[in-house]
Amino acid sequence: MSTQRAIGIGLLGLGVVGSGVAESLLSKPDALALRAGAPLALRRALVRDPKKARALTTRPFPLVTDPAQVLESPDVDIVVEVLGGEEPACGYIERALRAGKHVVTANKEVMAKHGPRLLALANEHNVQLRFEASVGGGIPVIGPLQRDLLGNDIVSIRAIINGTTNYILTEMAQKGMDFAVALGQAQQLGYAEPDPTNDVQGIDAAYKLAVLATLAFHTRVTASDVPHEGITRLRAKDFRYARELGYAIKLLAIATKEQGNLTVRVHPVLLPMETLLAKVDGAFNAIEIKGDLTGTVTFHGLGAGARPTASAILGDVVNIARAICGGEQKPMTASAADGPEEQGLRLRSMAELSTQFYLRLNVVDRPGVLALIATVLGEHGISIAAVVQKDADPAAGSAELVITTHPAQEARMQKALAVIGRSSVVREVNNLIRVEAV
Ligand SMILES: NC(=O)c1ccc[n+]([C@@H]2O[C@H](COP(=O)([O-])OP(=O)(O)OC[C@H]3O[C@@H](n4cnc5c(N)ncnc54)[C@H](OP(=O)(O)O)[C@@H]3O)[C@@H](O)[C@H]2O)c1
Repeated sequence: MSTQRAIGIGLLGLGVVGSGVAESLLSKPDALALRAGAPLALRRALVRDPKKARALTTRPFPLVTDPAQVLESPDVDIVVEVLGGEEPACGYIERALRAGKHVVTANKEVMAKHGPRLLALANEHNVQLRFEASVGGGIPVIGPLQRDLLGNDIVSIRAIINGTTNYILTEMAQKGMDFAVALGQAQQLGYAEPDPTNDVQGIDAAYKLAVLATLAFHTRVTASDVPHEGITRLRAKDFRYARELGYAIKLLAIATKEQGNLTVRVHPVLLPMETLLAKVDGAFNAIEIKGDLTGTVTFHGLGAGARPTASAILGDVVNIARAICGGEQKPMTASAADGPEEQGLRLRSMAELSTQFYLRLNVVDRPGVLALIATVLGEHGISIAAVVQKDADPAAGSAELVITTHPAQEARMQKALAVIGRSSVVREVNNLIRVEAV
C-alpha cells in the first residue's frame, strides 16, 4: 500500500450509479489504492433527501445537501457527478472545475450539450474532465476513441446505445408484442423509466452519438445536430415482415463521414439478420467503429446498471489519481474536442441522405393501386425493389402493402410520401423505415 496521502472523492448523487460507485470504492480499497498509487477516500455524497432509504448497507461517509461541501471542499480532489439531467449537474461541474477539482461524469446530456466548453474549462484550470460512463455504461469506448484509435481516420460509427429501447425491440421481435405492451413490461421490470420519453424518442441515443461523433471525427457535434426518430411507430407486424425479408429492426445511432460530409442520425433501421449488430439483443449495447486502418471494431457489453457504470467511473477515477500521484503538471484533459478541429467537415442534413426504404401502407384493396403508388415513387426518382401484399381485410376493403425500394434520397422519399398520403386509394402510411446496408 502506498504511503501517499489519500485522494479525496466527493460524490454528487447517490442513486443507482452513485451507490454502485460507493459500494465498489468501499469493497476493495486496497486493490484500488494499489492501482491508483494512493488510497481513495470517499469523503461525502450530495443528495436531495438525506432521509431517503438507500440500497447501500454500510455508509461510513456523510450525506450532505449543500453542494459546496463537495464542490469546494479542500479535502476533495475528484468530484464524481452522477446526478443526471442538464441542471444543476452542468453548473456543479463548472463550479468544481473552477475550484480546481478533477471531474468524472456519467452525464451524456451535459457532455452532448456542453462537452467542448467544459473540456476547455478543465484545460484552463489544469484539471481533468473524464466521461467514460456517459456512453455505453461499462463498455470502454470513450478511452479507445481518445487514445487507441487516434491513428485512424474514422469512417463510421453504428451503435446500439440505448439498452431500454433494445430491450423493447427484442421483446417485440421475439414475442410478437406491440410497442405499448413491450414498454409496459420494460417499465414493470425496471428497464424503462416511468417517463420513457428520452429513451423511446431516441433522445438519449442522440446525446450519446453527439459525444462519440465529437471524439471520432474531431469536430463539434452537439445534441441539437443529431436528427432523431424513436421507436413508437413500430408494430409487431413490422418485425414479422422485416424477418420475412431477412432483416431485424434496431434503433441505431449512425455517424458516417464521406468526402468531407458528416451525417449523424438516430432512427430505427432494418438491418440484415446476419450482421453482428442485428444479433445484439435485450439490454445489451454494441458500438461498431470503422477506421481506415483498423477496419471495423465492435465493442459489446452492458450499457447500464450500477456495477457496469461504476466500472467506467472507477477507471476514470483511478486514472486521474495516478496522474495526481505522478505529479503531472498539466494532466491530459483526454479530449479530442478541445484539440485542433478537423477543417472543412460539413454536417450534412438528413434530406441529402440516400438509403433504401421499407414502406408499409394501408391501401384500398382494388386493382391498379400498386401501379398508382409505383408511378408516384417513379416520378420522384425512386425505384421499387420488392412489393408484398399483406393482410387483406375484405370487410374493410383494404389491404396492406409492404414496399422496399432501391437507394433513394431522403428528401425525394418524403415528398413522394406526402403525395402518396394524400391519395384517395391510400388509407394510411403506417411506417417508413430506413434500411441500413451492410
Ligand atoms: N442508471 C444507469 O444504469 C446509468 C448508466 C449510465 C449512465 N448513467 C447516468 O448516471 C447519472 C445518474 O443516474 P442514476 O441512474 O444513478 O440516477 P438516480 O438513481 O436518479 O440518482 C440520482 C441521484 O442524484 C441525486 N440528485 C438528483 N438531483 C439532485 C439535486 N438537484 N441536488 C442534490 N442531489 C440530487 C439524487 O438524490 P436523492 O437520492 O436524494 O433523490 C440521487 O441520489 C445520469 O447522468 C445517468 O444518465 C446511468
